[in-house]
Amino acid sequence: MAAPRMTGIRACVFDAYGTLFDVHSAVVQSRAVIGPKAEALSASWRAKQLQYTWLRSLMRRHADFWQVTGDALDFALAEHGIADPDLRTRLMESYLSLAPYPEVPACIAHLRQVGLATAILSNGTPFMLEAAVTSAGLGGQFDAILSVEAVGIYKPDPRVYQLAVDRLGLAATTVLFLSANGWDAHGARAFGLRVAWCNRFQQPDEVIPVAPDATIATLAELPGLLGL
Ligand code: LAC
Repeated sequence: MAAPRMTGIRACVFDAYGTLFDVHSAVVQSRAVIGPKAEALSASWRAKQLQYTWLRSLMRRHADFWQVTGDALDFALAEHGIADPDLRTRLMESYLSLAPYPEVPACIAHLRQVGLATAILSNGTPFMLEAAVTSAGLGGQFDAILSVEAVGIYKPDPRVYQLAVDRLGLAATTVLFLSANGWDAHGARAFGLRVAWCNRFQQPDEVIPVAPDATIATLAELPGLLGL
């Protein structure tokens, strides 16, 4: 069944990592060096990276996403018995040039063509986000690139989603947030944004408050969801 059409949306705000950019493309760039452990390493790196954001927020011990990403990589490398400082450096550098998902450039261009505002709202630092956007050829395609560094706490703290409302100067009910991270989609919806979960990996529904308004398989379905 086609997702219901969403009306009254004035801005589309995107999560960055996992939604616009493929976090696992970092390890792909070094797959020849890592060998068959590459996929498991990447999965562990990403899982720890997210856990550390939640833990640091609960512990009130914020450190920026570059630090947390490095800490998570150190854990994942140790877990897989890899001690290779050059590889660590390369993997961290790869995070600044992650591959965008293939449908992303055309999707963003379409939204802008019809006059919708576009923005990124991410755990990433401003530097990391600028680098990823530029490397993906998406420079100039966003009205705002918003980092949690402005509030010093990670998603899903409501203050993060409030940033989108404040910076865009729009009512929450007119902002559509898109994330491939189910927990992030629920967090944004619990705050009060409109939300479409981009369920790229055919995950089951999360069993936490509050369910997204819509689910799409990739961002290629977004224009259709908006009736464009
Ligand atoms: C981000 C994380 C959730 O970009 O991937 O905020």
